[in-house]
Amino acid sequence: MTVMAQVIDLYKNYYLGSVVVEVLKGLNLSFDEGDFVALMGPSGSGKSTLLNLLGCLDRPTRGQYILGGRDVSTLSDDALSQIRSKYLGFIFQSYNLLPQYTVIENIEVPLLYQGVRLNDKTRRRCIELAEMVGLGDRLDHRPMQLSGGQQQRVAIARSLVNDPHVILADEPTGNLDSKTSDEIMRMLRRLNDSGKTIIMVTHENDIAQWARRIIRLRDGRVESDVRNDTLVVA
Ligand SMILES: Nc1ncnc2c1ncn2[C@@H]1O[C@H](COP(=O)(O)OP(=O)(O)OP(=O)(O)O)[C@@H](O)[C@H]1O
Ligand SMILES: [Mg+2]
Repeated sequence: MTVMAQVIDLYKNYYLGSVVVEVLKGLNLSFDEGDFVALMGPSGSGKSTLLNLLGCLDRPTRGQYILGGRDVSTLSDDALSQIRSKYLGFIFQSYNLLPQYTVIENIEVPLLYQGVRLNDKTRRRCIELAEMVGLGDRLDHRPMQLSGGQQQRVAIARSLVNDPHVILADEPTGNLDSKTSDEIMRMLRRLNDSGKTIIMVTHENDIAQWARRIIRLRDGRVESDVRNDTLVVA
């Protein structure tokens, strides 16, 4: 198994004036290429903080983060943003779509951040992704004109536009009913089957059952880390 991402003795503090908030306290975790991980744990245990570090949206206070064989712990903001556009796709609980943009334009957004010039070819790729998530007949709709599940499917298509190695999802089904959640999880499962590494935060046990591995954090430390042998069959 190739290791896709690894954190070594990872600490994260936040500083609020003179107060130090110690959030992650010496994590050691390794994520294999092609794994599907659910990150669980009580509110405030550091799940989103860890996901943000894995997503190169922030830097650790101490310790190392190796992504795709490279130590990215101390890179500049610009270098981190390049790593993000090369390796990573993001899905959030609240979809984070741009309200004034259409489905297709929302899917194109990461390309704009990368400085890719939009043309017929990029447009075709975005249409294919929209079709893949079942929104081929909604290309010109705006987020307001879509259901929550449809909005999350746009976000999934958007997360794939740069063909990332790793997809990071923070409570991707947190705002969805159980039927729609299952649709989204089935989609993530298919992406995982096609080789994408997925790291997903969730509060819900039945959502975590879609993952191959379940890591529980408690108070900034790993409480348990187990293979899931009751995997949901899609
Ligand atoms: N930018 C910040 N500045 C200061 N403290 C922060 C910041 N972000 C998070 N924290 C603190 O870090 C701790 C962990 O937060 P985090 O968002 O990682 O928790 P979580 O496990 O994702 O919780 P939830 O399940 O509620 O989303 C919390 O105590 C929070 O108050
Ligand atoms: Mg969180």
